Amino acid sequence: MNPALPPIDDTQIWDSMLSLYNTHAIALALELQVFEAFDAPMSVEELVSKTGYSTRGIKALLAMLKIRGLLDRHEGRYQLNNLSRTYMLKDSPYYWGPFFSWTSASLPNYKIYMENIRDGGTKEEREAADGWESGEMDPEFARTITDYMHCHSIASAVGMSHTCDFSGVNKLLDVGGGSGCYAIAIANANTDMQATIMELKPVCAVTEDYITKAGVSDRVDTKAVDMFREAWPEGYDAHFFANVFHDWSFETCAELAKKSYASLAPGGRICLQEMLLDEGEDNPAAPVAFSFLMTWGTKGQQFTLDELRGILESSGFKNIRAQRSYGYYSLVTGDK
Ligand SMILES: C[S@@+](CC[C@H](N)C(=O)[O-])C[C@H]1O[C@@H](n2cnc3c(N)ncnc32)[C@H](O)[C@@H]1O
Repeated sequence: MNPALPPIDDTQIWDSMLSLYNTHAIALALELQVFEAFDAPMSVEELVSKTGYSTRGIKALLAMLKIRGLLDRHEGRYQLNNLSRTYMLKDSPYYWGPFFSWTSASLPNYKIYMENIRDGGTKEEREAADGWESGEMDPEFARTITDYMHCHSIASAVGMSHTCDFSGVNKLLDVGGGSGCYAIAIANANTDMQATIMELKPVCAVTEDYITKAGVSDRVDTKAVDMFREAWPEGYDAHFFANVFHDWSFETCAELAKKSYASLAPGGRICLQEMLLDEGEDNPAAPVAFSFLMTWGTKGQQFTLDELRGILESSGFKNIRAQRSYGYYSLVTGDK
C-alpha cells in the first residue's frame, strides 16, 4: 500500500531548494559580462554568436535572469530593463557587481556552473553524469545518489499514482527508475500490475532494498541494464521515465525514445514525468531554475511540451498529450 497522500504538496520545498541558484545566475551573468553585452535586444542565438558561450548555458541563464526581473523578452529577444540598467551595469552609480563577485567565491559548485555555461563543458569531475554515461558507478555513490533522488521524487510518485490513469497497463518498465519510488507507487495503485525498475547494476542493489521495504517484492523487481549499451527487455506495455530525459541532450533523448519504441509491446505507451517549461521557455520559475541546475551535473535541461512532442513523434510515437500530475510535475504520454 502507498503511504497516504501528503497533506500538502512539495512545491514550497522545491521553491526553497531552487532559490539557491538565483545568486549563482546573477553572479555568473555579471562575471561573464552578459548585461554589458546587451547593446540591443538579442535572441539566445544572437547572444551566443556575440559571446561564444554555450547555447544550453545561455538559454538557461537568460531564463533565470528574466524570472528575477533583470531582463525583459519581447518577440523572442531579451533586453535590459530599468532594474538591470540601474544595478547590473558597471557605469551605474548603483552597480552591485563587487557584492556578487565576492559572494560567488563561496557559492557551491560556482566554478562548474561557470565553465558549463560559458564553454558547454567542464574539466571538473561530474561524478553522477560521468557514471551514468559510462555505465560505471561505485556502490557507495549509487546509494548516496539514489537516496538523494528518492526524497525529491517520493511525494510526486505517490501524488501522480492518484492523478494519472495506468489502467490497462499489465507490465510497466520504469527506465532509470532510481529508488523505484514511481514504479512502486504506480504498482500499489494498480494491484494487477507487474513493474520492473531498469537501472545500472549498482543502483539495482539499492532499489532492491526500497522494494523490500515497500513489501512489493511479489510484483516489483529490478533489471540491471545499461540503457545506452544493452538491449532493453521486451514484453512491457508501458515505459515510464521520470526525470530521465532532463539529464540528456535532445539527440540522446531521441535515442532513448527510439529504443523505447522498438522494444515496447504493440499498442504500448511511453510516459515522461517532467517539470515542463511554458512555450516561451522562460516560465514558470521552478522548471526554469531546475533547468539551470541541470547545467551543473548533467547534459540536459527541462523541456517544453512541444519539444518533447517533437522528440517522441520523430521516434514514432503518436497522440502525444500531457496532464498535470503532481506539484510542479506533468506526465507526457505517447502511444506506439
Ligand atoms: C535523475 S535520476 C531519476 C531517478 C528516478 N527516475 C526519479 O525520478 O527519482 C536518473 C536515473 O537514471 C539512471 N541512469 C543513468 N544512466 C543510466 C544508464 N546508462 N542505464 C540505466 N540507468 C541509468 C540513474 O542511475 C538515475 O537513477
